[in-house]
Amino acid sequence: MSEIENEQMNKIVALCKRRGIIFQSSEIYGGINGFWDYGPYGAPLRRAVEQLWWKYMVEQRDNVVGLDSTIICHPMVWKASGHLDQFSDLMTDCMDCKRRYRVDQMDDPTTCPNCGSKRLTEPREFNLMMKTFVGPVFDEEHVAWLRAETCQPIFVDFNTIRVATRQKLPFGIAQTGKAFRNEINPRNFTFRSREFMQMEMEFFCHEDESLKWFDYWKDQAWNFYTKILGIPEDKLHIYWHEKLAHYAKQALDIEFLFPFGWGEIQGVHHRGQWDMSRHCEFSKQEQDCKYFDQDRKESYFPTVVESSSGLDRICLMLLCNAYDEDTAATQKEGKDEDVRIVMHLPARVAPVQVAILPLSKKLEEPAEKLYHSILKKFRAEYDDTGSIGKRYRRQDEIGTPFCVTFDFDTLNDNAVTVRDRDSMTQDRIAIDQLAKFLDDKINPEF
Ligand code: GAP
Repeated sequence: MSEIENEQMNKIVALCKRRGIIFQSSEIYGGINGFWDYGPYGAPLRRAVEQLWWKYMVEQRDNVVGLDSTIICHPMVWKASGHLDQFSDLMTDCMDCKRRYRVDQMDDPTTCPNCGSKRLTEPREFNLMMKTFVGPVFDEEHVAWLRAETCQPIFVDFNTIRVATRQKLPFGIAQTGKAFRNEINPRNFTFRSREFMQMEMEFFCHEDESLKWFDYWKDQAWNFYTKILGIPEDKLHIYWHEKLAHYAKQALDIEFLFPFGWGEIQGVHHRGQWDMSRHCEFSKQEQDCKYFDQDRKESYFPTVVESSSGLDRICLMLLCNAYDEDTAATQKEGKDEDVRIVMHLPARVAPVQVAILPLSKKLEEPAEKLYHSILKKFRAEYDDTGSIGKRYRRQDEIGTPFCVTFDFDTLNDNAVTVRDRDSMTQDRIAIDQLAKFLDDKINPEF
């Protein structure tokens, strides 16, 4: 990473902490590596992206249904999935500075990147599953695992869901939620965490149609990032896997150009019949793992095409893409202009979508009334402290797309001034038109 890229990332991390967007978990105890808390301006962002994805992937389709499963499942699920035996990275320890590394991430696996020592332990396998115990006895018989991906319960619940929803192949099941991995080297802010959110959709189809569906879900994912989240196409890139799992026909990652380089935000994977056949082998419940196709008059293991994205990585992508510094007029003494940090977050996912800013505390009563009516439709904030310039700056830093100023004229003309964060234009809008004006800009149809 060059110094400039590093500096950019440091600025984003600092802004996230200062404005209560994302900060280290358990900070007063020194933090815990790989765990992050989303504060009052981070939680709404993450929730909004998750809801948008759910609307796009589940609610607006008649061939995808939803699931919200437990985080802890029967341990056999992870035996069947292969995680207990294979979900590991090769790691090595430096015997001098005691740092631990993933061998595949080292430029030179014979030298410690921190202290230069050549005294490194022999690489050994390190399983990434997080272990816990279920019940009062802490022995091997009561071991359970925190899920390492959200998709496994989807495979296990496939038939119950299919019967309940009367779906026929092809159809998909989606789930969002926490996943846990004991990553050896959590790094790049939230990019590689130990507790993170996934948004996954498993699409069950006949083998013959699976490549067509692979292409379809690739395009749908691309559309989500470019059209709905507004990420410029030149900052996204598709990496096609050259080495495929033995059961897979295709696999790709969608990557974003972070300040620290290209990083995967989502995978689209052809999983063949691996998952359903493995759960059949381990559960012995063939009727739950196979599908009887009435049109084809045959019973078979569905082939799975997976769309798997990381919600925290999408949020980090949005924050990195949004971060900008420009110059804006200032009222500071001796200065006409000042550096302004502005987060150009898409209005649909901005933590605060509308800020109501009365120009004087004397306007509190009618301005608060307006605020409460806006709050019913949008994520809104009311701020009457400090100069208007300072209040704009604060809203710019958390990415608020629209600031509504309520002034003394409002009492006569029943109109307010709406300032657009990006164009800095100001429009005078009648209060009875305000909700519609904002809604058209904040929630365009997709
Ligand atoms: N079910 C397939 C699966 O889990 P994956 O490539 O291991 O595939 C999918 O993970 C997505 O989950 C990744 O593209 C990434 O966005 C997110 N992800 C994986 N590990 C992560 C971590 N340690 N921290 C944050 N996000 C992670």
